Amino acid sequence: MIKFDAHYLKESVQDRDIERIVPALYKAHEDLHGRKGKGAEFTGWLDLPSRISDSFIKELGQLAAEVQDQSDYLVSIGIGGSYLGIRASLEFLGGISKLPVYYAGHNMSSDQLHHLLQTIQDKRVTVVVISKSGTTTEPALAFRVVKKMLEAKYGAEELKKRIICVTDEKKGALRAIAQKNGFRTFTIPDDVGGRFSVLTPVGLVPLALAGVDIFSVMEGARKAQSEYAAPDLDNNACYRYAALRNILYGKGKKIEVLSSFYPNLFYVAEWWKQLFGESEGKGHKGIFPASLILSTDLHSMGQWMQDGERTVFETFIAVERPQQDAAIPADPQDLDGFNYVAGKGLDFINKKAYEATAAAHFEGGVPNMTITVCKADAVHLGHLYYFFEKACGISGYVLGVNPFDQPGVEAYKKKMFALLKRG
Ligand code: PA5
Repeated sequence: MIKFDAHYLKESVQDRDIERIVPALYKAHEDLHGRKGKGAEFTGWLDLPSRISDSFIKELGQLAAEVQDQSDYLVSIGIGGSYLGIRASLEFLGGISKLPVYYAGHNMSSDQLHHLLQTIQDKRVTVVVISKSGTTTEPALAFRVVKKMLEAKYGAEELKKRIICVTDEKKGALRAIAQKNGFRTFTIPDDVGGRFSVLTPVGLVPLALAGVDIFSVMEGARKAQSEYAAPDLDNNACYRYAALRNILYGKGKKIEVLSSFYPNLFYVAEWWKQLFGESEGKGHKGIFPASLILSTDLHSMGQWMQDGERTVFETFIAVERPQQDAAIPADPQDLDGFNYVAGKGLDFINKKAYEATAAAHFEGGVPNMTITVCKADAVHLGHLYYFFEKACGISGYVLGVNPFDQPGVEAYKKKMFALLKRG
């Protein structure tokens, strides 16, 4: 499903580096699987794929049919872990969605919210609002505005069919709003934090409603759960990735750039940045996660990658089989001089650009590795999510932080609430 290649790490990572990190890796594995490491109460994602039942997926399928029947658009309201995985999935699977999805509550842009209201005004709309805490400012405000509009448009009874809440079982304002208004609810498990929640109802509900084959997403995740279960560096690519990024960090490579020549991965990279940034950036430690979409960004950031400060390593995500290819035609005049690639697929050329970039960046002092996703489909997406979640848990423990909390995100909120004079 996923192939891992560390060819361009040679010289940067020696056998003795691997030998040195193995004890920490085994300890991380034992702490994670034994639920005895830091933040163990938020490690429910570890066996989540095998815990999500087929009957729940079926239930979502039935709801999806109803929602698709009654709606022109789905509006997904949420931020951070309650937003990125949904968007990442839909963009990666590009075009598979049966119901167009709009997003709200992932910022506080009045222009964007206004535009959304105008777009959905005369359409049949269903809203899924997602917030684990049920108190996050951005989605709460967006929901307030969208709900008011829907209240004016549909009566209270119709609204019960058109608003779906995904939140904590008991806590939070969203649970209270849902109960008071009789909105349908789905529960986010207590033991799974926001950025690890894409395979819970947080991701599964909106994706099912949009028409994604979530059974396949979970099938891929289940395969990953069993494939990456054992602490065997030779056969566990996920642990190898976790080990190698820590070795590189220890050698002064403080920035990891996730690069892909497959633009549909743009939001997967955004999701990955949240996953690793929020999990590892603690106690003044942690690799800075950045991302590039190539070849686009080779024409903007290519110079920096090739020749800028050498504190960076690169992880490519390649896609072996994209959904479509486009053949380059021959041109009798050949004025642009590209007849030498006539008859080739654009994807073939894209892959040559990747091979060339990996080699050039390596020669320029950027060690790099490649994670290849064999196919751009739902099964592989589920697999990739689990791969990164597990790698992140292991990597965070090896680094010595609690990968499952996020105390640092409170600092600006306190100041913001003081400025807003919240009582
Ligand atoms: O990973 C996290 O915990 C955060 O990024 C949250 O996902 C984000 O802040 C949204 O929180 P909530 O779902 O509680 O609205």
